[in-house]
Amino acid sequence: MTVRRVLKMGEPLLEQVAAPVERFDAELQALVRDMDDTMRSLNGAGIAAPQIGVSLRVVIFEVADNPRYPHVSPVPYTVLVNPQLTPLGSEQAEGWEGCLSVPGLRGLVPRYTRLRYRGSGLHGEPIDRTVEGFHARVVQHEVDHLDGILYPRRIQDLRNFGFEDVLGARMTPMPD
Ligand code: NI
Repeated sequence: MTVRRVLKMGEPLLEQVAAPVERFDAELQALVRDMDDTMRSLNGAGIAAPQIGVSLRVVIFEVADNPRYPHVSPVPYTVLVNPQLTPLGSEQAEGWEGCLSVPGLRGLVPRYTRLRYRGSGLHGEPIDRTVEGFHARVVQHEVDHLDGILYPRRIQDLRNFGFEDVLGARMTPMPD
């Protein structure tokens, strides 16, 4: 079990465009194990490799009986390598998000409500899913990390950005 340090907003690596994965080898498996351990230790809904200091296009996510998100439908545990997102339609919805790299804060972020995502799993197997709602939001948040984008840049009105412990009833918690 290796819980790695999570980089915080302001560290340059989080703003880089991450490189594609070329080999589905033991090194990738070790990276994903560390991402798993780190995400679970912090009760995150997802994490991207750059958040533990590795600038590669790998994200993982899962929402299953997470005490921080009691109101959302489960999202299956997924390892997604070299993802490609295709929004389905132009409809967007706003939802509250948090991020392990922006601890203690939450912001209201618009995201596409439906999308298709493709990529590879841990062993190179193809993944091709059409999803909506919270699942779609989590994927967009995590894949943004691979392009050097943290959610505060997506907030349209910065009055909807603040500390979790004082926002209280204004927000329904959304993913880290
Ligand atoms: Ni994040």
